Amino acid sequence: MQKVAKLVIDGKELMLPVVEGSEGEKAIDIRSLRQETGYITFDPGFGNTGTCRSAITYMDGEKGILRYRGIPIEQLAENSTFVETAFLLITGQLPTREELTRTSVYLNDFSPLHENMKAFYQNYPPKAHPMGILSAMVNAMRSFYPELIDLEEEMNKTYLRLISKIRTMAAMAYRISLGERVVYPRPDLCYCANFLNMMFDNVVVPYHVDDDLVRALNVFWILHADHEQNCSTTAVRVVGSGKVNIYSTISAGISALWGPLHGGANQAVVNMLEDIHKKGLTVKDCIAKAKDKKDPFRLMGFGHRVYKTYDPRAKIMKKMGDIILSKIKRKDPLLDIAQRLEEAALKDSYFKEKNLYPNVDFYSGIVLRAMGIPTNMFTVMFAIGRLPGWIAQWKEDVSDPEMKISRPRQIYTGQQERDYIPIDDRE
Ligand code: ACO
Repeated sequence: MQKVAKLVIDGKELMLPVVEGSEGEKAIDIRSLRQETGYITFDPGFGNTGTCRSAITYMDGEKGILRYRGIPIEQLAENSTFVETAFLLITGQLPTREELTRTSVYLNDFSPLHENMKAFYQNYPPKAHPMGILSAMVNAMRSFYPELIDLEEEMNKTYLRLISKIRTMAAMAYRISLGERVVYPRPDLCYCANFLNMMFDNVVVPYHVDDDLVRALNVFWILHADHEQNCSTTAVRVVGSGKVNIYSTISAGISALWGPLHGGANQAVVNMLEDIHKKGLTVKDCIAKAKDKKDPFRLMGFGHRVYKTYDPRAKIMKKMGDIILSKIKRKDPLLDIAQRLEEAALKDSYFKEKNLYPNVDFYSGIVLRAMGIPTNMFTVMFAIGRLPGWIAQWKEDVSDPEMKISRPRQIYTGQQERDYIPIDDRE
């Protein structure tokens, strides 16, 4: 029997259907609410609002569970590659050997960039943030690769074109910002190795591709590949709902990711740790500052809208950090500060009461630093990883018969009707 929720308002009774997900989450379907009662719901930040049905990612913030298409993140991080995980997210299934080979061939074919696109980078001011460059470049792809045919096979190629080229664009942005020669993709290298090579190969010191770093990069990107209806994915769904092309939609996702409360947090964490190190602040000072409501300081990399326990990705990332740092035999003073901060925050009543645990960004910055990735590229690294998730969510959205253009309502709190005053009569 269809479960319903009863709402009584202004003496009127309304039966609202209950929607249930495959893992038992429940929602009240309020689509008839305004029409029946004249009321809307009020939920800034959408903390209590389900905007879609989705079969891509499941997370349970209380239990610290994250699964892509049903597969636990721990198993994917242990056994999968980023390309395989991207295939899983977009198609819903793990690829067969043949499908994986075909995917790799396409990724290879699509890896070079249109030569004219380089002009975009070359004309950017030298200190431009690579996230700004990347979102502009992805938007520009609509003009450089206009063939967007609706056939599924062609769309699959568009997804792979995006996944392949975003990596080339990101590395190119970095090289140009250094004033160095652009390194072209190599057909003999896998997705992650190719990226590292394009970033770091040098005529004087050829880059040696290290298998452990390649594995770490695979894991980093797997952990970031999707996270259900977060800020940037919501941006992708909202922008995509207007039926804009996929490149512009993804470009909007990149812009949303840039903010320090979202994807920009990994850069913000390292900036914070560097600042603490430079100023010689104690862990106690930092915890006190984070708790002081008059101080804008927040412990970056702590807290999450959904996770109210340890972010499962943070655990994997922390382990990865230990492996990479022991391999490169470097003691990172920032890691030491991070560990002491984590220990102190986890014991502190403020953090305990508010369920503030380390999120993935708390350790991802340390891993990226150890890999030699410059700080201003951190959020770009996140964007490359999140791309398959954005594509999967966009694809699900545009093919969902229930979806409509996103157009929320508001509670207007401004002036009531008043007359226009000619300029000479104004006080
Ligand atoms: N340091 C200190 N206090 C914090 C922190 C923090 N990092 N995070 C939350 N709080 C406090 C808030 O001040 C608030 O206190 P109050 O109830 O007394 O007002 C309470 O905890 C709840 O915080 P909100 O900001 O209301 O929670 P929300 O769900 O809106 O925000 C967010 C979540 C943005 C992640 C927040 O915890 C934060 O700013 N963290 C630091 C930035 C960060 O690490 N972002 C990365 C998120 S993960 C990702 O996007 C990949």
